[in-house]
Amino acid sequence: MNLLSGKVAVITGSGRGIGRAIALKYAQEGADVVITDLKIDESVESFVKELQALGVRAKAYSSNAADFEAAHQLVDQVVSDFGRIDVLVNNAGITRDGLMMRMTEDQWDLVINVNLKSAFNLIHAVTPVMLKQRSGSIINMASVVGVSGNAGQTNYSASKAGMIGLAKSIAKELGSRGVRANAIAPGFIITDMTHALSEEVRKQWEAQIPLRRGGTPEDVANVATFLASDLSSYVTGQTIHVCGGMNM
Ligand code: NAI
Repeated sequence: MNLLSGKVAVITGSGRGIGRAIALKYAQEGADVVITDLKIDESVESFVKELQALGVRAKAYSSNAADFEAAHQLVDQVVSDFGRIDVLVNNAGITRDGLMMRMTEDQWDLVINVNLKSAFNLIHAVTPVMLKQRSGSIINMASVVGVSGNAGQTNYSASKAGMIGLAKSIAKELGSRGVRANAIAPGFIITDMTHALSEEVRKQWEAQIPLRRGGTPEDVANVATFLASDLSSYVTGQTIHVCGGMNM
């Protein structure tokens, strides 16, 4: 299939995990792919080669999505290198969990900056590009806890709820100009982020999921492909849960 041929996609935090799976799927569907991450190491460089071998253009940029100036420089550089930006996936994210009683101001600020302000930075930078093209698809990586809340994750849940509000507002603001914005709310997805949890906690999570398994990065990448493609051309302002039925 070539659902994304002719499109240029920027995926933040795509050196590993869900972002990397999205980059691979996009390239398999014919998109030119821009990888961004804090550090571009050998593993990322060899991943870029793997993508290029699929016959698409691919390049990795070291860029801190939480830095406003860096996000603007990145977008300028991508437009100069690739000519356009059709898809932006705001995927970069971190956790710094802790109960409110013990949460430090730094823990709060870091999570809000990396998870939410980063999306503002990138959307702010791509908006003129997408308006000029009169098309574009923006995908914000939220989380089920952005909808349901989670004890011990006030900072993370607030940042992810913000990602949903941001996508909805952009959908309203830019819809008339052909730009769509949606959010994905993954549930329990098996990546480095969730590997930090103990085997026992992971089993407890899985027992509560109607489909009885944790999700894979590919499960999320499939939905991200739908939202990036023209198959979703009448879908905007929505949050799609990819959680095996954990949240309904
Ligand atoms: P991960 O920790 O495996 O990968 C995140 C990537 O983002 C890393 O490569 C990291 O270096 C990069 N990154 C971190 N800060 C950055 C910054 N300031 N600028 C650029 N890149 C940065 O995480 P995972 O599991 O792949 O998560 C991806 C997204 O999906 C995150 O937004 C996360 O909150 C969200 N998510 C993950 C779930 C899960 O169960 N794994 C569930 C729900 C949402």
